[in-house]
Amino acid sequence: MQWSTRPGPAERAADPGSRPREVDARTFRELMSGFPSGVAVVTTVDEEGAPRGMTCTSLCSVGLQPPSLLVCLENRSGTLRAAVSRGAFAVNLLHTAGRRAAAGFSTPGPDRFSDVEWELVEPHGLPRLSSDAHATAVCRVLRTVPSGDHTVVLGAVEHVVTAEAPRPLLYGRRRYATWPSG
Ligand SMILES: Cc1cc2nc3c(=O)[nH]c(=O)nc-3n(C[C@H](O)[C@H](O)[C@H](O)COP(=O)(O)O)c2cc1C
Repeated sequence: MQWSTRPGPAERAADPGSRPREVDARTFRELMSGFPSGVAVVTTVDEEGAPRGMTCTSLCSVGLQPPSLLVCLENRSGTLRAAVSRGAFAVNLLHTAGRRAAAGFSTPGPDRFSDVEWELVEPHGLPRLSSDAHATAVCRVLRTVPSGDHTVVLGAVEHVVTAEAPRPLLYGRRRYATWPSG
């Protein structure tokens, strides 16, 4: 019989020295800061009929049939709770002039909507940031998938409102930026 001198999976698991080091939150944030994205404000309406919203960059296209996207929202988020309860949310894609809205919707405050222009749009009666967004996608919640400290919310896009198309707002390397002109 031939004996291997190389440790098998069981020995490797028992030896902490050979385990890959865990990636801490700082390293992960640093990694993702090198992956710039657009900036959205996810909006909805809560059980009391009050508008809710938060800045969100973890937004991703999912598929075409049906047109669908996903956002990842922190489990403690009031916006997440309200969106799940209403079964719908809107994704407001910010343009360059929406930088203030991005800051406002990521900072705790009494009423994030008092500083922005907004209106309700159908089919779900959701807030659209009429001055800060160059496009708004109205979504029905298809499914939620818990994943650690966040929840993935999949939405079917049921309606799209577009405005003039100024340059999109970007976020990466921990700061906002503007899509180059031309
Ligand atoms: C540029 C930027 C992007 C953000 N993206 C997300 C995100 O994708 N998901 C998330 O849960 N929080 C994100 N946040 C943090 C939330 O906007 C922030 O925690 C907000 O206060 C949550 O609001 P709520 O708890 O009232 O719903 C982001 C913040 C900034 C500044």
